[in-house]
Amino acid sequence: MLEHNELKGLPGLGPAPYTLNCMDVKQGIRRNFARRARSYDQHAGMQRRMAHGLVAAVGDSLARAGHILEIGCGTGYLTGLLRQANREARLVALDLDVALISAARRRLGPEAAVAWLVADGEAPLRGEYDLIIANATFQWFTRPEETLAALYRNLAPGGVLAFSTLGPQTFQELAAALNQAARSLNLPATPPIPAQGFGDRETWSHRLYRAGFPQARLARKMVTATFPSVQKFLKALQATGATNPRPCPISPRLLHALIAAYQTGYGRDGAIPVSYDMIWAVAEKS
Ligand SMILES: C[S@@+](CC[C@H](N)C(=O)[O-])C[C@H]1O[C@@H](n2cnc3c(N)ncnc32)[C@H](O)[C@@H]1O
Repeated sequence: MLEHNELKGLPGLGPAPYTLNCMDVKQGIRRNFARRARSYDQHAGMQRRMAHGLVAAVGDSLARAGHILEIGCGTGYLTGLLRQANREARLVALDLDVALISAARRRLGPEAAVAWLVADGEAPLRGEYDLIIANATFQWFTRPEETLAALYRNLAPGGVLAFSTLGPQTFQELAAALNQAARSLNLPATPPIPAQGFGDRETWSHRLYRAGFPQARLARKMVTATFPSVQKFLKALQATGATNPRPCPISPRLLHALIAAYQTGYGRDGAIPVSYDMIWAVAEKS
């Protein structure tokens, strides 16, 4: 059972990021992921799956690229795949926090010859790239429209922007169970979970178009993971750092009701399902 004091920043237990001040949200995102830099890999199976899907979606552009920028490299899983696929490219990998960059640097070692950067991928960036790539990161952007337009300008002619992201159906069971729990306790409002504010495939398609990409390929897949219990899922999620950027503890009563609603509504054969709404996008600068 999760303790009340362990609940700070659990998913969705508070307002969605887009309703908050952008600077607060960004600091919250940085802090959440940085704190979990050591436990992230053990619980990031879905993110690894997204990374492999992303490499497959990019295709030949990866091997051809002379200059690659990775945004939100985290602990470096995708960075390693990029280096394996293209040993020659100048590879720059950035993330918001030094703890993540240090973990990624340790994973790849000096022979990978990556230029590591502690930076915000939404801040103006220098350089011109053949490929800008990001795995499971763009859903955390606070200014996605402006950022896509800026990244378009950072691409060389014919350059490719490729990313995977999570859509709003991610953790839909959690959102529904929380809703039900809040109603069962007669709470005036149900706290949204951050995933409910993530862009869907159509939203990303429109954003890319408005950013200057005339055409983009987008794919979506719903993937269901299973966990032995709601508590185990919440703990695993917490261990990845993908939790609410503004810590918003909930009462033990609401937590209890949430777990009961999730377990009763979705539990089957000693397991609970957890949905991931995976989206991949590849867009070329004409
Ligand atoms: C879910 S993790 C994914 C990490 C890695 N790409 C992977 O696939 O394992 C999201 C990462 O994006 C980073 N991130 C979020 N917003 C960012 C931003 N604006 N600029 C740079 N990194 C960002 C976080 O710090 C975190 O490391």
